[in-house]
Amino acid sequence: MPNHARPTLRIAAAALSLLTLAACKSEPELALDPLKVERGRTLYTGCAACHDNRRRETLVGPHLVHVIDRKAGQVSGYDYSDAMRKSRLTWTPENLRRFIEDPQGFLPGTNMAIDGLKPQDAAAITDYLLSRE
Ligand code: HEC
Repeated sequence: MPNHARPTLRIAAAALSLLTLAACKSEPELALDPLKVERGRTLYTGCAACHDNRRRETLVGPHLVHVIDRKAGQVSGYDYSDAMRKSRLTWTPENLRRFIEDPQGFLPGTNMAIDGLKPQDAAAITDYLLSRE
């Protein structure tokens, strides 16, 4: 290959990595506040008794691996309440936050028997789960 082709290649490679950097900057998770995510991670220990979010294990509740934008009531083999199975909900960050703030108020008939969380705690846990997508 003639030598003069190389600088062009190098410039193309540099341009490509700049483009990649620019694309990464627009990823939504970079907008998450790391302190809030860290707080959410700590608060998630309260959920972890019932919800695995690493190995897709079924505990008292269904696993929450990739729960963001998952359809509600869809983990196969998990015995959901009728309310959850028929809810037709998708776990957008907004729906997730509202559900854990007030499970029975948001989805009457759910089997998830916990008191609601404070709004700022529900938001932190939601950001933590978002950061794991
Ligand atoms: C005492 C056990 C328990 C705790 C603690 C608990 N959950 Fe649940 N969760 C459940 C059960 C049981 C269900 C299934 C509800 C149903 O079928 O109505 C559920 C369902 C869910 C779902 C729906 C999942 C799906 O597949 O549709 C989400 C999301 C969820 N919980 C998030 C959380 C978060 C976040 C926390 C911590 C703030 C939490 N849960 C704490 C027991 C628990």
